[in-house]
Amino acid sequence: MLVADENVFALFGETFLSKFKATGKTLFHMVLPSGETTKDRKVKEQVEDFMLKNKMNRDTCCIALGGGVIGDLTGYIAATFMRGVPFVQLPTTLLAMVDASVGGKTAVNTGYGKNLIGAFHQPTVVFMDMGFLDGFSKRDPVRAEREFKAGIAEIIKTGAIWDCSLFEVCEQKVEAIQRREHAVLNEIVRRSVAIKAEVVTLDPKEGGLRAILNWGHTIGHAVEGLMGMTDYADGLLHGECVAIGMVLECNLARAMGVLHSSAVGRVVRCIEAYKLPTKIPHHLRIDDIMRKMMGDKKNTGGKLKCVIIDRIGHCWEPKASMVSSLRALCRLVHFACRHAPILPVRAAHAGGRACCPRAGGCPT
Ligand SMILES: NC(=O)c1ccc[n+]([C@@H]2O[C@H](COP(=O)([O-])OP(=O)(O)OC[C@H]3O[C@@H](n4cnc5c(N)ncnc54)[C@H](O)[C@@H]3O)[C@@H](O)[C@H]2O)c1
Ligand SMILES: [Zn+2]
Repeated sequence: MLVADENVFALFGETFLSKFKATGKTLFHMVLPSGETTKDRKVKEQVEDFMLKNKMNRDTCCIALGGGVIGDLTGYIAATFMRGVPFVQLPTTLLAMVDASVGGKTAVNTGYGKNLIGAFHQPTVVFMDMGFLDGFSKRDPVRAEREFKAGIAEIIKTGAIWDCSLFEVCEQKVEAIQRREHAVLNEIVRRSVAIKAEVVTLDPKEGGLRAILNWGHTIGHAVEGLMGMTDYADGLLHGECVAIGMVLECNLARAMGVLHSSAVGRVVRCIEAYKLPTKIPHHLRIDDIMRKMMGDKKNTGGKLKCVIIDRIGHCWEPKASMVSSLRALCRLVHFACRHAPILPVRAAHAGGRACCPRAGGCPT
């Protein structure tokens, strides 16, 4: 069962179908509208009904051909169809390659928030072909550039939390990466996927460590959720929201005294070098952002959690940290909304102790 969105199918669908014929196996396919609204329970039901109507059973394998939207939706369908069938990911966006297709998180959105209904269901295989990325320039070169950079934001994130040398490649080879030179692009994608695979293998169901992959996402998801709920004409992509989140969460770490200012500067400069956004859009309201963050499903016991890096390539704790002073975080976001300097905030380290263990400076 092949699932693709209309854009991807128009570019690669017929080639895929005709090549697949050679296997002699039956291939059904369904083409869905493109965009985040497709990651929806009703759309899931439509695909499932199509599969049931065509008498698919536990021998079925679902194939997701597309970006993270199609990957998340198809993965969730595969997770629940006949109590779980195998699925294959064919990611066609950079973000889906380096992030969404690896790790087995599948979900749909609800009116209450993104990815709130889903399951962990690992793909049997993930095939990546950089050639898919050429499809964007055939469609819309401006959008292509934004989608590409949104994927780069996730690679910067992976370097910043786990591997300083990957971060340095992103930092130092901006032009080569933007020109999409295959050697450097292959290197950063391969390394990024390897790190994600390592982290999710150590902690497949996000018991602790895996949460570090959400660096930049606490604030990023709040911004993303709100952008989707306004009538803002030109919304932000997931990776763009993560870029804003990384900048703010870096500032949070600095305000806590665990991250040196020079490291914050490096992260901000790197994100800016790719012309990714670094500021919260003006029309968003601070209390809406805070409310969104408080509603994050990763919080526990009503406490807000946020991943904190203490140097580039390393997290303060091998999990998301509790943010104990919400008022202070609120001030931080408030000031970030107005692009003003950030005020100090304190967080509770493991054990609930309010502390600034590396106040006074730590390596960048
Ligand atoms: N499961 C996870 O771990 C995980 C991680 C990160 C993000 N996500 C999810 O991924 C989604 C975002 O994924 P995305 O950025 O890939 O968005 P997307 O799937 O909406 O794709 C972006 C756009 O690009 C088009 N497109 C895709 N591939 C193309 C190609 N090769 N050529 C031309 N056009 C192409 C699509 O039709 C779509 O319009 C979000 O829903 C997010 O929540 C999931
Ligand atoms: Zn992400």
